Amino acid sequence: MIDWHLQLEGLSQSGMLRSLRIVEGGQGPKVRVNGREVLLLCSNNYLGIADHPALIEKMVAATREFGTGSGASRLISGTMPPHTALEERIAEFKGTPAALLFNSGYAANIGILQGLLGPDDVIFSDELNHASIIDGCRLARARTLVYPHCDTSALAELMARERADRKGRWLIVTDGVFSMDGDMAPLAELCDLKEAQDALLMVDDAHGTGVLGARGRGTGEHCHCLERIDLHMGTLGKALGCAGAYLAAERVVIDTLINHSRSFIFSTSLPPGVAAAAMAAVDLVDSDEGRQLRERLAQNRRQLAGALTAGGMDLLGSTTQIIPVLTREPAPTMQMTGRLLEDGIFLQGIRPPTVRPGRCRLRATVMASHDAADLAHAADQILAVYREFAP
Ligand SMILES: Cc1ncc(COP(=O)(O)O)c(C=O)c1O
Repeated sequence: MIDWHLQLEGLSQSGMLRSLRIVEGGQGPKVRVNGREVLLLCSNNYLGIADHPALIEKMVAATREFGTGSGASRLISGTMPPHTALEERIAEFKGTPAALLFNSGYAANIGILQGLLGPDDVIFSDELNHASIIDGCRLARARTLVYPHCDTSALAELMARERADRKGRWLIVTDGVFSMDGDMAPLAELCDLKEAQDALLMVDDAHGTGVLGARGRGTGEHCHCLERIDLHMGTLGKALGCAGAYLAAERVVIDTLINHSRSFIFSTSLPPGVAAAAMAAVDLVDSDEGRQLRERLAQNRRQLAGALTAGGMDLLGSTTQIIPVLTREPAPTMQMTGRLLEDGIFLQGIRPPTVRPGRCRLRATVMASHDAADLAHAADQILAVYREFAP
């Protein structure tokens, strides 16, 4: 039998033990942690709309009309008007014929890959893809070939080597914005490659949707290749401030998932209030107000990343609102996080297995709702703790 105490003790001794922190208040720029007000610098509520009155109103109204829970999975009795209205809106927003909701981004990625692919197929997966994609590849039981991060030449060579034995479908899968590095996948080049190789391209745009592109349609819009992407996965719990996720794609793909995707079939659907709020969030993202929030977010990103770069920090090629500061080893990383929290700055240190050994980091995320003075102070504090604790 596993001795869990011993296992946890081992994690603690190597500076790898994880525990939960209670955050009081909404996901605004300031929250209370351990009874003290701190600057929230680790939320994915990038546009700051998780407490927007328009979203709250829609959630309350739909909850009054339809109740708190959907009562069943989508194929039983859990498909309600807010679910189908949201799917139509997402399809229109992403420019695809259809869309399908999932209960989370994790459930979407495992369900999409398992539902569409099988043992005769090949998945080409970026080495820094999110854990849910890695788990989805395992569940699909497809042959999975991992290519070096964002390296389209290496991917092209890998595909060329595989050609002779080709049997089933080929799928390239990548994060749009990488969740721990904050850099973007070279989507236009990946589109060229998948078209040349008769493969499909799936983009997990958990961190790009709402944030990138003129209308907030994500990394594909930013890279001017939105309509060339085959499978648009995105989440509703980050920039859109709600919960859940979706795949936007061809009708036949969506129908296949309705029939084959286990995380879709065997799970109670999203509460109707969440679907209604997410619909308001898509409308907000796709509006003038959404555009202004994106501009504010970009300005905040420039300020924090600029100050950290000027202070000599390695930001690992980040070009987005996810700003990692490379700290390398777990122990100093967690000392820095602890000290920053004492100083009123709440961000998370990221350790293996989320990132590779030796690549620990402080992962800061900016929001449109941060103000310039708070970000300037945060940058000074981060630079100060780095100088104190870096190995
Ligand atoms: C790239 C990426 N995909 C998927 C997910 C999972 O999304 P969710 O939190 O909705 O389960 C995350 C969440 O952290 C993510 O960063």
